[in-house]
Amino acid sequence: MKTIIEPFKIKSVEPIKFTTPEEREEVLRRGFYNLFLVPAEDVLIDLLTDSGTAAMSAAQWAGIMQGDESYAGARSFYRFEKKVKELTGFTNVIPTHQGRAAEKILFSLVAGKGKFIPNNSHFDTTRANVEFAGGEAVDLPTAEGQDPEAIADFKGNMDTLALEAFIRKTGRENIPLCMITITNNSGGGQPVSMENIRETHRICRKYGIPLFLDACRFAENAYFIKKRETGYADKPVKEIVQEMFSYADGATMSAKKDAIVNMGGFLGLNDESLAARARNLLIVTEGFPTYGGLAGRDLEAIAQGLDEVLDEHYLQYRIRSVEYLGERLVKAGVPILLPPGGHAIYLNARKFLPQIPPEQFPGQSLVVELYRRGGIRSVEIGSVMFGRMTAAGTFVPARMELVRLAIPRRVYTQSHIDYVIEVVVECFERRGDFPGYRIIEEPPMLRHFTAKFAPIR
Ligand code: F0G
Repeated sequence: MKTIIEPFKIKSVEPIKFTTPEEREEVLRRGFYNLFLVPAEDVLIDLLTDSGTAAMSAAQWAGIMQGDESYAGARSFYRFEKKVKELTGFTNVIPTHQGRAAEKILFSLVAGKGKFIPNNSHFDTTRANVEFAGGEAVDLPTAEGQDPEAIADFKGNMDTLALEAFIRKTGRENIPLCMITITNNSGGGQPVSMENIRETHRICRKYGIPLFLDACRFAENAYFIKKRETGYADKPVKEIVQEMFSYADGATMSAKKDAIVNMGGFLGLNDESLAARARNLLIVTEGFPTYGGLAGRDLEAIAQGLDEVLDEHYLQYRIRSVEYLGERLVKAGVPILLPPGGHAIYLNARKFLPQIPPEQFPGQSLVVELYRRGGIRSVEIGSVMFGRMTAAGTFVPARMELVRLAIPRRVYTQSHIDYVIEVVVECFERRGDFPGYRIIEEPPMLRHFTAKFAPIR
């Protein structure tokens, strides 16, 4: 088998800035050791997120020029709506400015006090929107999905036995909807099998609970199904996508991921009355239903991106380039969450830095060192993001202490990734010297974005 190459050539480039170790030290200090507070200009390789950071294609940029900016009934909206309906089959497609805006509208309508939303694993904004509406977000990943070293094909799956037990205990009237996140971002970018989506659908049907997909990375999930699940090897990814959505009654989508655009999202719904209420809320908070917080040009770019993401050469390159990074790190002995995810590699910070206890945030320590030594920006997905203090003041750590190296779509080449490997391996060799961190200031929710840290010397 020959090398899997980037299935594109580059016709527009953006320079990246090199910094000295002294400059990076100063940047870290000024940003209170929180990489969200660091100017992007001072980052060499930015693996903070794969969201909104993609390189658009020539055809998408051409679409930008052709966007119809009419307030109502823009041509670009109809192109967008047609494409989303073709893939999802949902009867109502409501554009939003990004994924969390769709979540906000959905959960404001269904998730009040005393309501529970089960999910294989909520993403942070999804959890925050459920909780902000007064509801409770419940994660039901499988046991193997919680074991960073277990090698399995579909570690993103919902624990369907736990789901059914949860529904019986809680009462279906207290569960306005059930959600599956594809791929499972908080659980390591791991895919969910078609069988698991089908079984979750069956259980939800039995109790009359609507099933929603958090569909940000639907194409990557579909490609894993094609490669790993019996019976799908010869199916076009597009048909796999259509089958996945056929089991759902609705979806929230961040187009900033698998629509390969810099901004956008949507809420898809089959329930007409819920859709009508969602549109009313949309008009108050986002915009008129045929643009919903986006420009016409954004809708064009999304429609085009939804086609491009289903190109199987693209998906092969995408999944392989993440796997390549994972393989090399494993070879060097670096502990990562296995197997490699679809959009990111997750370093296992608990194993990487066993000397730093969870309450001193080993993930944050590693995030700081990757920047300090190589100008690489990554993100902690551990006790900074998901840990908490009980009312009695005891610290409850996150399930896992991870550092995510998210790979933007079509942005970096193999030599960028080789450089990342060198920096991670260097950190691994020096890991004994890294300090823990304490939080010196934090907001009441989603603290990882703005918290300030100080090293514990
Ligand atoms: N759901 C999942 C699974 C996500 O990964 C994200 C965003 C959202 C919902 C929210 O979408 O950002 O468009 O409002 N994830 C980004 C990340 C931010 O870095 O993983 P959004």
